[in-house]
Parts: sequence; C-alpha cells; structure tokens
Amino acid sequence: MKLQTLSDLICPKIHNGKKCHKILDLHITKEKKDEILYGLLICTKCRTKYPIIQGIPILLSDIGKYLKDNFAIIKKSLNPKRKDNEDLFLYMSVVKRSAFQENQGTKIFDLPSTPKTTKFEGYKLLHYGDMLKTTHAPFMKDILKLHKKKNAYTIIKNWLEEKKLKDKKTIDVGCSFGRLTLLLAKKCSFSYGVDISFTDLLTASRIIKHVPNKLSRFKVKESGKSKTKTTNIIKSNNLDFILASADNLPFKDNLFEVSINSNIVDIASKNVNILKEAGRTLEKKGELFVSFVPFFRRLESEKKDKALTSSNIKKAIKSITFYKEFKHIPFIMRNSENFYNLYNNCCMLGRKKTNN
Ligand SMILES: C[S@@+](CC[C@H](N)C(=O)[O-])C[C@H]1O[C@@H](n2cnc3c(N)ncnc32)[C@H](O)[C@@H]1O
Ligand SMILES: [Zn+2]
Repeated sequence: MKLQTLSDLICPKIHNGKKCHKILDLHITKEKKDEILYGLLICTKCRTKYPIIQGIPILLSDIGKYLKDNFAIIKKSLNPKRKDNEDLFLYMSVVKRSAFQENQGTKIFDLPSTPKTTKFEGYKLLHYGDMLKTTHAPFMKDILKLHKKKNAYTIIKNWLEEKKLKDKKTIDVGCSFGRLTLLLAKKCSFSYGVDISFTDLLTASRIIKHVPNKLSRFKVKESGKSKTKTTNIIKSNNLDFILASADNLPFKDNLFEVSINSNIVDIASKNVNILKEAGRTLEKKGELFVSFVPFFRRLESEKKDKALTSSNIKKAIKSITFYKEFKHIPFIMRNSENFYNLYNNCCMLGRKKTNN
C-alpha cells in the first residue's frame, strides 16, 4: 500500500446498521521503498484494527469473522507441501495464531518469498492470456477475432480513450487479477483495484506492482504440454490493491471520476448496495461502467421472479443516469486449453447526477 492511499480511506465498520466512515491512523511494521508491506490501519473513532498483509490492506467491517472463516476454508483446501500454496498457508496460520487477537495486532511475521512461477489457467488465462501470447484452440480462431472487436474490455478501452483523466482517481471494483485496474492506471493519476479475494489481489499486486515480489513467469498448457511463458507487463506505480467488499467500500464520498463494475453484480450478493456504493464514491458527473451476465443472479431488492436485467439495474441505482446500453456483447471465458464458455454480457454506461 502506498502512503498516499491513506488519505482516501475510511473505516468500513458497521455498528448497528450505521457506517463508521471515520478516517484511519496508520502504524507501519515493515516498508520496502515506497510500499507499506505490513502494518495496521486503526480507526480514529471506533478503534477497529485492519491489517496490511503483503502490501494489501484488508478493510472489512467483519474483519475478525473474515479471517476466521478463511482460515478454516484455506486450511482445508491447501496442502502446505505444495509450493504455490505455501505462503498463503503460512499467512493464514500466522493470522490465526497471533496477528488478529486483541492487543497483538502489530505482530505480523514475515512470510517466505512467494514462488516465482505460477500455474496459469481459467480466469488468469482470460485476463493476461493475450499478454502471454498464448495459442488458442484452432476451432476458436475466427470467433475470437470477432470477439476481440466487440467485447466488454474493448468497450471500456474505447470509452476511456475519449476521457481526460490525467489528474483523476479511478476504481475497478471486483478487480480480480487487475487487468482493468492497470488499464485505468495508464490513463489517470491513480487507480484502485478492489476485490474480496486475497489470492487474486496478491497475484495482481505481484504481476503489476511487483509487490511483495515480482511475478512474471507462468506455466500454461499448450497442445497438452506444460510451457513456461513470461509477461511483458511494465511495472505500474500509480495503483493500489485493496481487500474490501464492493457493497461497503472503504473510500470517501465523491472520490472517483470513473468507476468500473465489470462482471461483479451478477456474482456477488448485496448487489443493490454495490451499485449504491458505486454512486456514493463517484465524483459529481463521474461515470460508471457496469457489465453483467443477465441470467446469473437476481437483484436482492427485487422480487424473486424478477431476473437481473438492465432495467432492474437502472432502477436500483438512482443517483446515476444511464445513458448508453450495449446489447448482445459476447463474453468468452477460457476455462482450460480446449474448453471455452460463451455468455451474453450486458454492458451499460451511466453518469452521476449533479444534484447529489
Ligand atoms: C467474474 S470476476 C470479474 C473480474 C473483472 N472485473 C473482469 O471483468 O474481468 C468477479 C470478481 O469479483 C470478486 N467479488 C465477488 N464478490 C465481491 C464483493 N462482495 N466485493 C468485492 N469483490 C467481489 C471476485 O472475487 C472476483 O474476483
Ligand atoms: Zn471506525
């Protein structure tokens, strides 16, 4: 985490349904150049402690529960003998043992260095596959050519190209491996990538920020054989990755000129609140991009028989005027070497109303 990020953050704690939203104090345990690797963010009002682990601040209202829940899941699913899981396993055991127990908040130990090569499949392939110049299955060649011209990422790229964002801040909510956070960072003064998954954020941080260490080599499968490929991503210094929930963002009001909510409202719960938070954190006249796969989920506030449709999205976010809708946008997801899924992706652009 960069020091400058502190001034944009607020406490996400919810007490009896009310958000604390006070500013945070920073206690640094370990720094490397201009990056805070370990430390604590402490609320100046409610005194809740939020850890910074491997450079990533974890800013959740139910921080204790999150860490306990994840410990159980990760402990079960991780084999500490497997190298690529080693760091996370250790991190979780450290967390469980000491770091988050009362009065021991600053005791966060170092982890061994994270492995330099990681397996690259599923979502990672989709996000960085083109940068690795991976070969696609021959039967997909023509479809992918068309898809490249017309997909959500291309729409976002074209939309950003027309915008003047030089002194502006932006946010990518549900950023996963940070592909769109990086795209935003190239255009604006500073961008944030927010996600609920620690492993995704750590991977993003290692690929794009080289924090806590650089990750540029990936194992991919081609023609049934495992090959090691290298990314050509240039390190970016004007972005940070934050672990937070999209329905309760730890950011001040009216901060961002651009907000991207790409393929998150359809998979996350509390999606009405996700849209409200997007509206709250946008600057006046700031713009929001929303994309989702329509039939995946239903909007919480709507009756059960109402699907997640673009008109329901428009109704759910009252502080935004939607001005453009892109229909029938294909979304191709590569799950493994020869297995692709095709979805219909609904994409919308909106602008925050001025009287808000
Ligand atoms: C389908 S991926 C989308 C990734 C990227 N935005 C894109 O369009 O390629 C959805 C991401 O949302 C994250 N996510 C799910 N629920 C979330 C929540 N409540 N808050 C923040 N992120 C969440 C997941 O961890 C996952 O990385
Ligand atoms: Zn607080």
